[in-house]
Amino acid sequence: MAVHIKTPAAIEKMRFAGRLASEVLDFITPHVRPGISTEELDALCHDYMYKVQDSIAAPLNYTPPGYTPYPKSICTSVNHVVCHGVPGERKLKEGDIVNLDITVIKDGFHGDTSRMFYVGAPSIQAKRLCEITYECMWRGIRAVRPEAFLGDIGHAIQSFAEAQGFSVVREFCGHGIGERFHEEPQVLHYGRPRTGLKLQAGMIFTIEPMINAGKPGIKQLADGWTVVTKDHSLSAQWEHTVLVTADGAEVLTVSAGAPAPTPAI
Ligand code: MF3
Ligand code: CO
Ligand code: CO
Repeated sequence: MAVHIKTPAAIEKMRFAGRLASEVLDFITPHVRPGISTEELDALCHDYMYKVQDSIAAPLNYTPPGYTPYPKSICTSVNHVVCHGVPGERKLKEGDIVNLDITVIKDGFHGDTSRMFYVGAPSIQAKRLCEITYECMWRGIRAVRPEAFLGDIGHAIQSFAEAQGFSVVREFCGHGIGERFHEEPQVLHYGRPRTGLKLQAGMIFTIEPMINAGKPGIKQLADGWTVVTKDHSLSAQWEHTVLVTADGAEVLTVSAGAPAPTPAI
């Protein structure tokens, strides 16, 4: 199936869904503290989406081919968890890093964004991994413009991550998004310049690099969802939903509390 070029009406709805997803992260931020369990964070986000926003949690019961239904409303990926961490009884503790990944559906359209959070004070290495991963996401976003290629995004991310001594997870990627959660194209976080699909104004996709402090290998846990680093090294991820505009990119998952872009150099 082809990559969608979104209509102006669809883009407007994607802006709204994107803002709501980012606002869930703003809402949950003060709750990310030592002692709270990841299922408490899930319940707080669930209620905010359903009772305050009148939005739907896209992950809840989401069942991609080959998967069992996802049992919760958000993903909570702590320390060596790469992605799709399932909220549970585990309590956050001082020094943990955690990715909270929020996808809302509003008026039939999806907004998908994630951020890293420090629980108390992070180690120097954990902080550096989170910051480098944030820069990776922004380097990917800054590679977006009409006539650029998907490979330019992947290359921007991979070259920076590896120059810092970190590695890029290969098994999961960004994705087209709109009326469906995951659509074409696949947005790899590694690659070569001027390869792959050529970008066109009106495309919307996520950029969501998963960067490991150690080796890139991953494994999936027996719950069928949680993905961890094979070497148990720390992993970080940031995600935005991005529109290709006439002259660059517009980030759709923005809100008052979204961290600022890094400076272009
Ligand atoms: N939000 C994730 C992404 O960025 C997907 C999570 S699928 C779920 O693509 F079912 F685990 F929620
Ligand atoms: Co995504
Ligand atoms: Co996501």
